[in-house]
Amino acid sequence: MNCIRVNTGIPYDVLIRRGILRDAGAEIKKVKPNTRLAVITDSNVSPLYLHTLLNSLEQAGYRDIPSFTMPAGESTKSLENAGLLYQLLSQAKISRDCCLIALGGGVIGDLTGFVASTYLRGIPFIQIPTTLLAQVDSSVGGKTAVNLPTGKNLVGTFWQPSLVLCDPDTLSTLPEDVFADGVAEAIKCGMIKDAVLFDLLAHQDPQTHLEEIISRCICVKRDVVEKDEHDTGDRMLLNFGHTMGHAVENWMQYQQRHGQCVAVGMVMMVRAQVAAGMLAPTVLEKLLQICQKYCLPVSCSACWEDLFEICRQDKKSTTKGIRAILLRSIGDSYIQPFSFEEFKTFLRGGDQQ
Ligand code: NAD
Ligand code: GLY
Repeated sequence: MNCIRVNTGIPYDVLIRRGILRDAGAEIKKVKPNTRLAVITDSNVSPLYLHTLLNSLEQAGYRDIPSFTMPAGESTKSLENAGLLYQLLSQAKISRDCCLIALGGGVIGDLTGFVASTYLRGIPFIQIPTTLLAQVDSSVGGKTAVNLPTGKNLVGTFWQPSLVLCDPDTLSTLPEDVFADGVAEAIKCGMIKDAVLFDLLAHQDPQTHLEEIISRCICVKRDVVEKDEHDTGDRMLLNFGHTMGHAVENWMQYQQRHGQCVAVGMVMMVRAQVAAGMLAPTVLEKLLQICQKYCLPVSCSACWEDLFEICRQDKKSTTKGIRAILLRSIGDSYIQPFSFEEFKTFLRGGDQQ
């Protein structure tokens, strides 16, 4: 088993092992003994894994565990559903000394984390991520959020989990496109900080290296989050490919999966850097090859001018411009501030390449 300690304000462990869901009760007992638990999950995950989790908790001596199954899908991450969960938790007499468990993908993790951080002014929660994206990214680092009709993740908190349990076996039931979403985030981790991870993804079968891939991604995220827990500096490196990726997602009216849009975003940035003579052309070739391997798109039908205008209005843009994430090579990234005019010229160059 891999155990990765995340040294945030309150430190916690991320445990990665095939089959760990069956031992969740014993692992949770080590960090939350004599604690009442409640599980939040979604309608796809519940029939697959809730029974195994509840069995394991009962074997470890936990009793009277309410579970709440929300509809699967991004629209579940809403203030309305947070409100509904507050009511349900209150009716189930979940008090400040209880602990919530998020069993599901990033949607359930973000919503449960948000509810945990606000219900009764904050109660602990544990992440049991069941998508690759949630295992390599969203379950670690403490960003929680719900969406507003005007945009994604516009209301949220920083609230670290008390424990994260990653069971790669749960990924066997994921639809292919949902798995590929997580691969895109793993490729991002390799591109920004871990060339060995990038090579692993490029040349090996990911299914036979899941524990190593997940562990390496979590180490990348841990290193960044430990330096900048509240996202005011280095944590922005995790946004590589996301500035343009979010613009593509917005332009596609959220009808294309996040990972696919991030793949397009990474390619746009690398293409522009190569065109500007800032990066070796082989980096672009390797990125295009890896995207092809995982059936991730490398372009979209939007023109760069439209995407630029969406970027300009993005919540991460400032009045002065855009802080873009660039590469020196695969595994080595940095933050580059651009004025809007400079960024426009940069993108135009990539388009003409
Ligand atoms: P998701 O939670 O919607 O899961 C994708 C789909 O897979 C859903 O239909 C879900 O029901 C299903 N599913 C989950 N586990 C399954 C399994 N083991 N077998 C079969 N089906 C399963 O989406 P996601 O891609 O996991 O997460 C996306 C969300 O994460 C977005 O809301 C995004 O904003 C958020 N996010 C948060 C952070 C963060 O740092 N907090 C980082 C990245 C993304
Ligand atoms: N997913 C980006 C972050 O956690 O900062």
